[in-house]
Amino acid sequence: MKKVLFVCLGNICRSPTAHGIFEQLVQDRGLANRITVDSAGTSAWHIGKGPDSRSIQAAKKRGHHLEHLRARQVTVDDFDEFDVILAMDNSNLSDLEALRPAHFTGHLGLFLAFAKNHSESEVPDPYHDGEEGFVHVLDLVEDACDGLLQYLIEP
Ligand code: 4NP
Repeated sequence: MKKVLFVCLGNICRSPTAHGIFEQLVQDRGLANRITVDSAGTSAWHIGKGPDSRSIQAAKKRGHHLEHLRARQVTVDDFDEFDVILAMDNSNLSDLEALRPAHFTGHLGLFLAFAKNHSESEVPDPYHDGEEGFVHVLDLVEDACDGLLQYLIEP
């Protein structure tokens, strides 16, 4: 069993988008017994809230569902629970590195390292953008989800 955690700042835009898309991909490939998926935010700002309505709408247009997800804050215990912890941007990554216990032996890195068709290293925060920012997040997330799945199922 591989356990994957996606992390952004608020857990209402980028990481729930990755969570919903990757979880569906895992289910569609019949891998739900081998891979589990979750997401969290480095901040406590939106705990208990559903994803931003703009993320829900942009995802829905591509057939992805996010509305069941609820925001939570990442904790040090997540390093015991998850094998692969993926940050959306460098700021999220440095916050996670500060929290990382010395005994964590899993993978902590940037999610877009798994993207095949985009050269960006960070998923930009779309919170203050228009709809195009949310569409760009989807493009990046869909690409990196495919690469991540390949990485996880490699023999
Ligand atoms: P996320 O986006 O980190 O992708 O969930 C944000 C959501 C909310 C805020 C910033 C980023 N905020 O400032 O409240």
